[in-house]
Amino acid sequence: MGARLPGVERTFFCLKPDAIEKGLIGEIISRIERKGLEIIALKLVRVTRDQAERLYEEHRGKPFYEGLVEYITSGPSIPMVVRGVNAIRLMRNLSGATDPSEALPGTIRGDYAPGSPPGATIRNLVHASDSKEKAEREIAIFFKEEEIVE
Ligand code: CDP
Ligand code: MG
Repeated sequence: MGARLPGVERTFFCLKPDAIEKGLIGEIISRIERKGLEIIALKLVRVTRDQAERLYEEHRGKPFYEGLVEYITSGPSIPMVVRGVNAIRLMRNLSGATDPSEALPGTIRGDYAPGSPPGATIRNLVHASDSKEKAEREIAIFFKEEEIVE
């Protein structure tokens, strides 16, 4: 439905383990639906170390990298593919700023993620791709094309 309309794109979005621990699955999915975006693939998984390293390749070597890999592999996550006009930008906007202390009320991180102590891994509930290239790369880490309902 609509995959080839102008401006329609797909993005990778993931509920991290803290979102599931806190019982926020329904709340976060509701926000995606209310915004008029379509979920075209979704599963519940324990992210493997290999998947985490591929997802966060760009951060390898940074001080927070090891803590980040530990965080995303610490419990179940829900990776998904979301489709819509400007889906990449919209999912970044719905998510809010990386640091929950900077994330505005009305965003997922702004409404539900507590502040992180300085130097600690930032537990901010969700991941959203930041470009078309990254979206396609990140989708491929978690989904085969035949698992995506286009
Ligand atoms: O997730 P987002 O694209 O907003 O942020 P990022 O800069 O790509 O960082 C990826 C993830 O690393 C963040 O979502 C945080 O969970 C974590 N992070 C951290 O623990 N400490 C930092 N100083 C920066 C990021
Ligand atoms: Mg990022």
